[in-house]
Amino acid sequence: MEKVPRPVIRRLAVYLRCLSNLEEKGVQIVSSKQLASMLQIKDSQVRKDLSYFGNLGQRGSGYDVKKLSQKLREVLGLYKTWSVIILGAGNIGKALANHKRLEQNNFKIVAVFDSDRRKIGRQIAPGLKVRDVAELEQFMKENGADIAVLAVPATVANELACRLEKVGIKGIVCFAPTTLHCKIPVEYVDITVFFKTLAHTIVNSSYNI
Ligand code: NAI
Repeated sequence: MEKVPRPVIRRLAVYLRCLSNLEEKGVQIVSSKQLASMLQIKDSQVRKDLSYFGNLGQRGSGYDVKKLSQKLREVLGLYKTWSVIILGAGNIGKALANHKRLEQNNFKIVAVFDSDRRKIGRQIAPGLKVRDVAELEQFMKENGADIAVLAVPATVANELACRLEKVGIKGIVCFAPTTLHCKIPVEYVDITVFFKTLAHTIVNSSYNI
């Protein structure tokens, strides 16, 4: 398969969300035009994005919602449940641990770690007690996990990323405002980037006149 650009992969995840909503409503067929209007993009863009993965639609009749969902799940690696650990039981760690849509989307939080004695042992979400980060290696040896979330201060993020890499974590979602020097895949989440992008759009938009 041709290398798929990252913006396309991001849109696939959004298509999948729209398709899940349609499936819940019992819709069986969707056109590229309908999908495009849900994302407020051009229908030619939808067709181009989906064409990376073969001939998924029928000319004139659209895409089978169930089949397209299945294909996108496969492409996005969602044919299995990914086990996730969270490092940092602060504001972000707690919010994520309680975010039900993660599990609905095949990402199951299996443990939360922190270094703060006052937080260790406390229940942070149903079925999740904060563990001591000193036990990270032991936990990974006994249970393993696929993905780690770094919701810790930037000053400790790299040291923790190194430990995570050594114990076999496959990828990291990093909320800490820093760059990680590790070889495993990292996705950075920075809410300020969205605000800055929006500010740029507003100042360059005709609505601003
Ligand atoms: P917080 O201060 O509420 O939580 C951080 C937690 O990390 C604390 O519980 C602390 O005890 C723990 N911690 C510190 N050192 C540790 C270590 N070595 N091992 C394990 N746990 C450790 O912070 P909050 O608000 O949850 O933010 C977390 C990170 O995300 C920060 O780096 C913050 O700057 C960043 N952030 C990112 C945003 C984004 O859009 N990506 C938005 C807001 C914050």
